[in-house]
Amino acid sequence: MIDIHIHILPHLDDGARDLDEALDMARQAVAEGVTTVIATPHGPKTGLVRNYSPELVRQRVRTLREALDEHGIPLEVLPGTELNHHPDLPVWLQQQQVLTLNDSRTVLLEFPNNAAHADLDAGLAAVQQAGYRVVLAHPERIKQVQEHPDLLLALIGRGVLMQLTGDALIGLHGEKMRQRAEQLLTHHMIHVLASDAHDKITHRPQLGLAYQRAVELIGAEAAQALVWHTPDAILHDQPIALPKPTPIHRSLIARFF
Ligand SMILES: [Fe+2]
Repeated sequence: MIDIHIHILPHLDDGARDLDEALDMARQAVAEGVTTVIATPHGPKTGLVRNYSPELVRQRVRTLREALDEHGIPLEVLPGTELNHHPDLPVWLQQQQVLTLNDSRTVLLEFPNNAAHADLDAGLAAVQQAGYRVVLAHPERIKQVQEHPDLLLALIGRGVLMQLTGDALIGLHGEKMRQRAEQLLTHHMIHVLASDAHDKITHRPQLGLAYQRAVELIGAEAAQALVWHTPDAILHDQPIALPKPTPIHRSLIARFF
């Protein structure tokens, strides 16, 4: 599997605290069946924290790779960022002040959980119009999506990819979140499954369990697309054929008639 969202670089954001923890997370990822991760520290934030330059992220990736080699851990680590929504993002991307996913034309973009629908819409469109493919990080956490999941239909129609966090699917974010995650998945609104792991204990890499659950829900072929084919296409700037999503609202009504 390829995990495109993990906070594995030590001493940066709220991810791995030190190199030992990063190595433990790498061992866990390998045990889950992951061969490649894109390290995605949070950034950028206007202010003193979380303003990591691309050079710093690349340097930390190199250091981690060397340590993985030394310890014989077979995990490939690539550079990336989980970008916070910001109106200047299109400019920063074009000026190469922030990192895409492995220097591809695809970015991982995060919005605040309480983001307004209009802001979500405009923020995603602005980055797309600047020439980038966008993966929306964990849409299941966004309140507007929780209340109106079908708003994802229009975004998917515009080519926005949706990344579900594995822990949500296996119930680690609560029963309600698990149901939401299942619903989005079974309605073909999810394109990538990622760990969003932050540490080796509470938010550890356990993508294998989530993948197994996805296999049960949507079948092996569709589940493999979430953890292999689509992430691989992202890494290599290849086109991605998205499955046709089915509205959630209509099917709920259909249950009563
Ligand atoms: Fe994250």
